[in-house]
Amino acid sequence: MTSPRTVYLNGAFLPFAEAHVSIMDRGFLFADGIYEVSAVLDGKLVDNAAHLARLDRSLGEIGIRNPHTLAEWEGLETELVARNALDEGLVYMQVTRGVYERDFGFPPADVPPTVVMFTQGKKVAGNPLAETGAKVVTVEDIRWKRRDIKSVALLAQVLAKQEAVKAGVAEAWMVEDGAVTEGSSSTAFIVTKERVLVTRPLSTALLPGITRAAVLRLAAEADLRVEERLFSVEEARGAAEAFYTSASAFVMPVVAIDDAVIGEGRPGPLARRLRELYIDMARAG
Ligand code: PDD
Repeated sequence: MTSPRTVYLNGAFLPFAEAHVSIMDRGFLFADGIYEVSAVLDGKLVDNAAHLARLDRSLGEIGIRNPHTLAEWEGLETELVARNALDEGLVYMQVTRGVYERDFGFPPADVPPTVVMFTQGKKVAGNPLAETGAKVVTVEDIRWKRRDIKSVALLAQVLAKQEAVKAGVAEAWMVEDGAVTEGSSSTAFIVTKERVLVTRPLSTALLPGITRAAVLRLAAEADLRVEERLFSVEEARGAAEAFYTSASAFVMPVVAIDDAVIGEGRPGPLARRLRELYIDMARAG
């Protein structure tokens, strides 16, 4: 990046080095906060209204008032993207319950939430991993019971991803009672030998992925058969194809799950097609 990095903190666009948050911030002390990640492609936000709607919902679920209207959020994101001359990458947004002397109960209602935003350059559409396909490992899902909330309490996901890093692969799929819940930072899909697209139904057991919803819409438009149901690690290991979705990976073909090769060890045709359809949709805006 040529221009110095600009971030957003509580009403101000600041040079990165000047943006500081108190050690008493509830996000720091309790992971008491919510976040969102939207992709940027060709300098434009991808499916952003849906991400902002989920941010609003997450905040509501834990009783933090949304400090901005959806239009204000979008204005701030657009401004941040422009100030950082970001063409392709991510916008990260975080809202915590603010700064107050450490105490478990909520601070008084007049304590303002802390709002942090920054951008990250990343090849989301042009990611070379999509050409070869990603490998994943499976790990036990040790998270809490409200995974539908996009909480900044990500320790279980950090530990899961580190298992992937240790194994030299891209992602970890988390497993509960023998069934795949989701990736450490993505939604898991498989394609059966009968060419049925399978992903876990929404519940409190997983995040309602925005990319998941878009891919299900695209699949319906393409007349693909879709089943929202639980699937086991064994079924996934024997699937014709697998892939995962997220704002940062779009649609990422999976070519191995633990020691099982998926399909022919190359990205499968449906995963490739859905990735193309998704990128077309993202570019069309
Ligand atoms: N993660 N499941 C989990 C646990 C996630 O953290 C994410 C996204 C997803 C996919 O959601 P979406 O399609 O709305 O991005 C599913 C983001 C990208 C992150 O933590 O960086």
